[in-house]
Amino acid sequence: MPCWVGTAHHPCCRTDIAAFIPIEEVQCPPYRIPRHGKEAGSAEVSTFLQKMLSLVRQGARRLLCPRPKLRYGASRRPMQASHELVVEPIGLDVDKLPRPLLWGEIFGNDHPVELEIGTGKGTFLTEQARLRPDVNFFGIEWARWFWRYASDRLRRNHCEKNARMVRADAAFFFAEFVAANSLSVIHIYFPDPWPKKRHHKRRLIQEPFLKLVHRSLIPNGRLQIVTDHQDYFEQIQTVVSASALRVIEYNRPESASDGEFAGTNFERKYRREGRPFYAVAAVKGGRSKPE
Ligand SMILES: C[S@@+](CC[C@H](N)C(=O)[O-])C[C@H]1O[C@@H](n2cnc3c(N)ncnc32)[C@H](O)[C@@H]1O
Repeated sequence: MPCWVGTAHHPCCRTDIAAFIPIEEVQCPPYRIPRHGKEAGSAEVSTFLQKMLSLVRQGARRLLCPRPKLRYGASRRPMQASHELVVEPIGLDVDKLPRPLLWGEIFGNDHPVELEIGTGKGTFLTEQARLRPDVNFFGIEWARWFWRYASDRLRRNHCEKNARMVRADAAFFFAEFVAANSLSVIHIYFPDPWPKKRHHKRRLIQEPFLKLVHRSLIPNGRLQIVTDHQDYFEQIQTVVSASALRVIEYNRPESASDGEFAGTNFERKYRREGRPFYAVAAVKGGRSKPE
């Protein structure tokens, strides 16, 4: 019987991953570890296994933290950048943040705050933050490497004044950290579609999450979503229409080039492949449905 035992640094790429190793495999050599890349050194493997075993000995029988399992589409290759990634001052440590967050304290001003979930490499956030210095931009990214890359990219583009990034699971972060009535726009571009039916429950945009979105938006605050996945789009349309938000026409952000919906990394890549895109937008206020 597989047992979910916890999280540890993966020995190949050193990202924090959820360990989903059957206990018997942890205990019986030859060990089989979820691999996403190059061979790990035996010392690193041994550290990883010791951490796993200690979690098991402490009685862990399932995932211990609110972090999700290895994400859909997560790279199996170790990610590399051509330069050293400097996370500070843009990348924040989620464990050191107050709950709820006070945006005024984070940014040192009372400008409106727009938040992007799943920034990837931070293309969209960087272009927006550069174009609109009077707006604060906050990115949430689950994957450690992308969080580091996007934080560094924002820093290199001199966005220290109006951009911050945190590495966290979005649903957890909204529930724990985001204050009610505090965000002017929430951007979600190309959320992981989890195409297999048995994985649909892992999709982010579902009724409980939309309640958190509604709570976090200021009156007239907007939610903007783009996906290339038709089935997910149909689900998004259904749950957004049934939520307390009011569906409106999708507005292209200023940084999007001609013909683009948002101008993210994925959009530019998928566009070259000729994939169709689907957009949904909704606003808080003027709703006809009960909360
Ligand atoms: C398909 S990629 C799209 C990246 C970017 N938005 C773009 O269009 O280029 C989805 C991104 O969302 C991140 N992600 C997925 N689930 C998340 C969650 N629950 N919380 C935060 N980030 C998440 C993934 O790590 C990944 O970087």
